[in-house]
Amino acid sequence: MEINITEGGTDLAGATLIAGVMSDREPLAGSEELVAGVDSRLLDLAKFEGNAGQVLVLPHDTAAGLVLLGVGDEATFDSIRTAVGNGIRAVKTARAVTSLCQVPIDGATRAVVEGAMLGGYEYRDYKTTGEASPVQILDLIDADGAEVSEAVIGCEVTNLARDWVNTPALDMSPETLAGRIVRAADEAGVTHQVWDLKRITDEKLGALLGVAAGSDRSPSLVILEYRPDRATSHLGLVGKGITFDTGGLSIKTAPFMEEMKDDMSGAAAVAAAIIGVARLGLPIRVTAVMPLTDNAVGGNATRPGDVLRPISGPTIEVLNTDAEGRLILADGLGVIARYEPDLVIDVATLTGAARVALGDRIAAVFGSSSDVANRVLAAASRAGEFFWELPLFKEYRKQLDSDIADIKNITASRYGGAIAAAVFLAEYAGERPWAHLDIAGPARARETAGEQVKGASGFGARTLIEVARAMSESV
Ligand code: BES
Ligand code: MN
Ligand code: ZN
Repeated sequence: MEINITEGGTDLAGATLIAGVMSDREPLAGSEELVAGVDSRLLDLAKFEGNAGQVLVLPHDTAAGLVLLGVGDEATFDSIRTAVGNGIRAVKTARAVTSLCQVPIDGATRAVVEGAMLGGYEYRDYKTTGEASPVQILDLIDADGAEVSEAVIGCEVTNLARDWVNTPALDMSPETLAGRIVRAADEAGVTHQVWDLKRITDEKLGALLGVAAGSDRSPSLVILEYRPDRATSHLGLVGKGITFDTGGLSIKTAPFMEEMKDDMSGAAAVAAAIIGVARLGLPIRVTAVMPLTDNAVGGNATRPGDVLRPISGPTIEVLNTDAEGRLILADGLGVIARYEPDLVIDVATLTGAARVALGDRIAAVFGSSSDVANRVLAAASRAGEFFWELPLFKEYRKQLDSDIADIKNITASRYGGAIAAAVFLAEYAGERPWAHLDIAGPARARETAGEQVKGASGFGARTLIEVARAMSESV
């Protein structure tokens, strides 16, 4: 979707207008005239009051049509984004026009752009029938150019992550994903290294190798670096990149395996974020490490009871090969430590337990201190993503004591699984400020609503960009 900025009085021939009202049909700023022109009997007939989620498509005398959006009781960043997301899917012409950016709230422009570009996303690479959405151009009347371009970048990288995650694992091997990430990084001026199996072996990433051992497809480790001249601080990112999680020998049952092509959503989010930061030209150094591998079942697969040696930190007794994310992250955290960033954030679809605790829209954030967790929470609210802090409760560490190695990868209890995983990772995060984001719930949208489109959500990228922005602004 192409986003343009136009002045009022633009030619409307063939375009669809998008206007908004609050509950009780009170028009939003910029929508007054359009709403006044609608015969209220039409609204009565359609029972359209302007409640959140309502969308009404009407004829219009000069344009191709008018889409009226309900935003509910209050026009907010979230309510406008949701309304535009719902509205863009009701547009049946190539061009849409709106003045909703004029609503006088912080982030109105961003909300409109995100609603349209994220809500209008479709993944059609494997569809041979049906038709793509016709909307190609969105004209924003009297919008701020800088705000629009920033929002567009956040959406483009989110949709890039969605494309990677939506691609079936058959066509998304670790090497393919590495290639896709490198290609996008190149275009944004982000430098890259890709470690192949030999380099991963030479560097002694024993935990990544242990997970990869069960697959015929080789692992990769991607390192992206963005180093602008004016940078005063350095953000380190690590993303879980399991291209498919069968569970390994501790194999998953069929229903739990269905969605496991999503298990590289953390890697997709951090790659999208560093590319976004580079495209925005933020004055902050960012380094991103993405260990990529299948977790498969082969003759050489790691067995329960085997012990792995990550690049640094405790040796790991693998008692459940399905707790593989923390293994590859142990090595990812070891690699990022070499770069000595000021703050490390890892992102992973790590535990079903995080999804049980917080559901499908909210990610868990754990911080080495509450200050770090709060930085993520503040960034997330600017990005319109939802997080909740869970405790890094060190008392649970003893549940991870291994009989023969330094640590084991699961606890005996199935309770508190998201916390146990975070406590495990803390062993590899070292002493520097660190946050762990468990995105197992929100990595996939289960229904199409607002800016969410069923399938990969691209969750996390925009929050990470906001963390980077805040770091680049504080001196
Ligand atoms: N990739 C899964 C976690 C997951 C579950 C992500 C559901 C998205 C949706 C992870 O590798 C996993 O299998 N975790 C296990 C850990 C357990 C064996 C300690 C889990 O959560 O069941
Ligand atoms: Mn698993
Ligand atoms: Zn997994």
